[in-house]
Amino acid sequence: MKKLVCILLCVLMACASLSALAAGEKVGVSMPTKDLQRWNQDGENMKKLLEEAGYEVDLQFASNDVQQQLNQITNMINNGCKVVVISAVEGSSLGAALDLAKEKGVTVFAYDRLLMESDAVSYYATFDNYKVGTVQGNYIKEALDLDNAEGPFALEITAGDPGDNNAIYFYNGAIDVLKPYIESGKLVVKSGQVEFEKVATPTWKTEVAQNRASGIISSFYADGSNIDAWLCSNDSTAMGVINALEDNYDGEWPIITGQDCDKPNVKKMIEGKQSMSVFKDTRTLAAQVVKMVGQVLAGETVEVNDTETYNNNVITVPSFLCEPVFGSADNYMELLIDSGYYQLSDVQ
Ligand code: BGC
Repeated sequence: MKKLVCILLCVLMACASLSALAAGEKVGVSMPTKDLQRWNQDGENMKKLLEEAGYEVDLQFASNDVQQQLNQITNMINNGCKVVVISAVEGSSLGAALDLAKEKGVTVFAYDRLLMESDAVSYYATFDNYKVGTVQGNYIKEALDLDNAEGPFALEITAGDPGDNNAIYFYNGAIDVLKPYIESGKLVVKSGQVEFEKVATPTWKTEVAQNRASGIISSFYADGSNIDAWLCSNDSTAMGVINALEDNYDGEWPIITGQDCDKPNVKKMIEGKQSMSVFKDTRTLAAQVVKMVGQVLAGETVEVNDTETYNNNVITVPSFLCEPVFGSADNYMELLIDSGYYQLSDVQ
């Protein structure tokens, strides 16, 4: 009996010192850029929560530059990080750093954006990207009452960065809802630009989306004819489309979709210029990743809820998908202000 108690005590002590050890570990967090509000929030939220959990954190932003991100991750690994959490500038270009992680036994998390073409990725945490697109597509479908109204309605489309695996999921989610109406002629895309490659916005840049939208407006709507809806995959591209419309469009203001509930876009929703956005509470995603990192470092089973969807062309990465939420001028108070995500002064 005495022996048993002794063994139990030893095991308990070993566990305690293991978790103390785990708690001191170094975690690298690599975000793509500081240019967009969301990545600043994602990075800072994760740093705060990881530090509260007792980990040392190396947080870096890569100025949307692949080489800079490669160097930053390589340094994190060489400086002793046991886990790296990466949101890639370009999903397929981090092979060298991921190989190094694998060689050194470092656990790699893909954060929000999947890391492609590598078997060194252990987990992926994101929002349900296809669902984001579905929410946008359904919004247009319902706002135009596509099942009952006669139409035809004019639609234009602006999608995301071809280097970001998420962009195709957003696009597919929305297009799967809208395609039957495009095929039946109830939705008409006058520019003829429907395929992802034609409507993509490299690096998600507002200016790039704006230039393309300006070209479409002056080539196809200069006669003052209406654009009824403009599907935009996220807020930075929606802002480009809004700028282009403000500059040189004379028709009735279209329905415009977005994603992220960025502060300038919430203002546009309140002004009535952007119809909706999809809110992805970065606090939820950051908290989930911190939980999963803790599970890895404590040698526990890591919580995932999807083991089928996200194949990176080499492996299917075990994933945790958080729920995206519809946001608009009607619910932003409750969603963004009452929940403490923003101050009212941020969006007014
Ligand atoms: C994210 C979006 C974001 C976009 C541009 C995507 O990978 O999922 O939330 O709007 O990148 O930064």
